[in-house]
Amino acid sequence: MTATTSADPRLSGRALRRVAFDEETIASRVAELGAEITNAYPDGELLVLGLLKGSFIFLSDLVRHIVRPIQVDFLVAASYGDATVSSGTVRLLYDPETTLEGKHILLVEDIVDSGRTLNRLMTVLEERAPRSLEICALLHKRIAIELNHDPKFVGFDAPHEFLVGYGLDHAENFRHLPYIASLQ
Ligand code: PRP
Repeated sequence: MTATTSADPRLSGRALRRVAFDEETIASRVAELGAEITNAYPDGELLVLGLLKGSFIFLSDLVRHIVRPIQVDFLVAASYGDATVSSGTVRLLYDPETTLEGKHILLVEDIVDSGRTLNRLMTVLEERAPRSLEICALLHKRIAIELNHDPKFVGFDAPHEFLVGYGLDHAENFRHLPYIASLQ
């Protein structure tokens, strides 16, 4: 059973509005995504890149459902400059130690909101000459108007609410919730 938000001792009294995706629903969809990814890459080296921090729980669950050889690494990005510019304004605070050239790259994101993060990162990653470059997003709000790369793998269409849990935060709180909920 999923904990109800009102009774959840993880929240220290902070009220959540509702649970958008409970533990069982997430686990089932993540397993399906792992199978989709396994089947989508019949050959070649596959590097699964988790974008920190939001993807840390999703990535750790997802990779255990990918039944083929993979490498796992992470990206930490900092955006700066004009937020309306869709490329050239991302700096990698942590750059993957593994080479990207010639590999299938799967970038794992927790949520696509405005799409700015992805637009900026994909430009940087394309310059590394990967064999292929795709996105797996757990949540997609479907509000990004100028998304240069549509995620090939999507867990759920997300409601247009401020979501926390399963890696998603509000001021670094709530990342540890095993479900995804919206804030009051
Ligand atoms: C959040 C989230 C995505 C991004 C989505 O990251 O994890 O990476 O925003 O928003 P966008 O589509 O509007 O760019 P955030 O910058 O809050 O950092 P975090 O992953 O460390 O929580």
